[in-house]
Amino acid sequence: MIMSFFFGLLMATLLCLQSAAQVKTMTVKLNDAKATVSPTMWGVFFEDINMGADGGIYAELVKNRSFEFFKPMMGWAVHRKQAMEGDLLVINRQGENSNNPRFLRVTARKAAKGDLGMTNEGFRGMGIKQNLQYHFSVMYRQQKPGVKLHVELLNAAGNVIGGTTLVPQATNNDWQKQQVRFAATATESKAKMRLWFEGDGVIDLDMISLFPQDTWKGRPGGLRADMVQLLADMKPGFLRFPGGCIVEGYDLSQRYQWKKTVGPVEDRQLLINRWNFEFAHRPTPDYFQTFGLGFFEYFQLAEDIGAEPMPILNAGMACQFNSGEVVPLDELQPYVQDALDLVEFANSDTTTKWGKVRAYMGHPAPFRLKYLGIGNENWGPQYIERLEIFTKAIKERYPDIQLVTSSGTDPNFNPFSEKGFAYLDSTLRKMNVDIIDEHYYRSPEWFLTNAKRYDMYPRNGPKIFAGEYAAQSHKPASDRSRNNWQTALAEAAFMTGLERNADVVTMASYAPLFAHADGWQWTPDLIWINNLHAYGTPNYYVQKLFSLYKGTKVVPLTADKQVIAGQDSLYASAVMDEKSNELIIKLVNYSGQQQTTSFILEGVKAVATDGMRVVLQGNNLNDVNTFESPNQIAPQEKPFQVKNKKITLDMEPYSFSVLRVKLSAGKQP
Ligand code: AHR
Repeated sequence: MIMSFFFGLLMATLLCLQSAAQVKTMTVKLNDAKATVSPTMWGVFFEDINMGADGGIYAELVKNRSFEFFKPMMGWAVHRKQAMEGDLLVINRQGENSNNPRFLRVTARKAAKGDLGMTNEGFRGMGIKQNLQYHFSVMYRQQKPGVKLHVELLNAAGNVIGGTTLVPQATNNDWQKQQVRFAATATESKAKMRLWFEGDGVIDLDMISLFPQDTWKGRPGGLRADMVQLLADMKPGFLRFPGGCIVEGYDLSQRYQWKKTVGPVEDRQLLINRWNFEFAHRPTPDYFQTFGLGFFEYFQLAEDIGAEPMPILNAGMACQFNSGEVVPLDELQPYVQDALDLVEFANSDTTTKWGKVRAYMGHPAPFRLKYLGIGNENWGPQYIERLEIFTKAIKERYPDIQLVTSSGTDPNFNPFSEKGFAYLDSTLRKMNVDIIDEHYYRSPEWFLTNAKRYDMYPRNGPKIFAGEYAAQSHKPASDRSRNNWQTALAEAAFMTGLERNADVVTMASYAPLFAHADGWQWTPDLIWINNLHAYGTPNYYVQKLFSLYKGTKVVPLTADKQVIAGQDSLYASAVMDEKSNELIIKLVNYSGQQQTTSFILEGVKAVATDGMRVVLQGNNLNDVNTFESPNQIAPQEKPFQVKNKKITLDMEPYSFSVLRVKLSAGKQP
């Protein structure tokens, strides 16, 4: 009995060693290019979830700067010595200004510094950097001149780490904006900002704001540069925004309305963020949308990072996981008008109503919008009948705009459910829509199995946009899901299938994009941030490598005439880049064994004698990047040799490699 057990074990080990030692030979046919890789192939999807915008990429440090949160003083702690009731009074001027109704009236009665003040806690604290300049600004109206403002930054221990004094200049009774600057004397990730009111008088305050100077491109009131840089480094083909479920809202009153997000920032009406209360396990009662990052800024961001803008608009339907309410068809017109006006805002000249708004905001040149999404994750006949109305109106006026349409939330073909994919996919195909958006938040195994998903798709008809996907180490949106190496590797395997089918799939983006370590609602996420730092997950590096080396033409890569999609736990695809004149091979080794692979390059006269491989590798599928070890899994370059148009390489266990070889003789320059 014992003997036979050991014999079995020995045989199994030998078989394993033999398979590990076996060389997997694949052929790449360079003269048989079929599909063109769309320049938009790999992009990013931004949604204000996980404090991605307010508290994240929008660099404002003051939370509830205009007292518009549901609880008007949320985020503010009040300090008063001998003040009278009503000396800090929230006033609501709904009739005069319905977009920004509240402000704070401060009455100081011969107050010394330290008598009357308030402290803002920031978004889970404020990230402050030593020696950096900070811009404090406030809108004020002097009811009785005589109050000055002392601004102080405090570290976690409550000590002052920078500050200045703002003495109101204007004495008339109109709203004014005034700004002062000062440098911080220390770095602190959990700072707060305190204001002391000194003097004798009455002053109204609104839009109390603090921005660092080091925003992206140094724009005042702009975006966090480190976060934008991580996006720019990916060279994304498109930017999908602003969601996601926030487009839909819990109900229609909470839907995203782009017109309320443009123009002067103090006029952008605050809205609750639907992720504020979505998950009982991660309630975020202080999560609101100030729209400091609004539609103009999204377009500008897309332009900055070289991405095609892809706004998504509400289709007259609230989130079907929430209220699911719909607007009656005969009341859909304002929604359709929003879509038409958005194209005008983005593309028309400055003589038009909305082109003028764009120019006023600082961008007279058009943004050249090509893609527009109608609805996010909508399903059922109620979606289709609304989509038909949108499509007719938009195509009549703007026939060149490509419309992105929803196939719901479930990528599996269940013919018996109208929520399901089969109904939507077949209906959208009958409608001959431009682009179908598919979403999948599934297990790593699902991603591996679906590496061949698009091999079976019709080659004609609508293009596919893999608009939201992420492998889940636990359940979707579970607080136990992790951005571990297993999920990233499974996504890489799946993405070889997207790339191989670039004639069908023309766009793809991971979701969600950002998460604040102290303010998230949903895991996993591509990029994690805290108040001072940001790092890319292993999944980020997978996305980045596919994007940087996307190539221009797909070339066949096979073994025994089969595509490589799971045999021996290998997944592979190949493209040529006609601009850099390179062959680019992507290969995932999803096994825990090193595997020797050979690539025979056919259909090419000569290739370089050396190439470069970029490798992502983790010894353990549970490996993750962290703030402390942001490069635990990060790209490493390894040169290799090419002999007689053949590459033979040992692929590390659990690795993703991108191989690049010049398609011309000699050594690479
Ligand atoms: O990415 C998080 C959410 O997942 C999106 O808002 C929604 O579209 C999907 O359900």
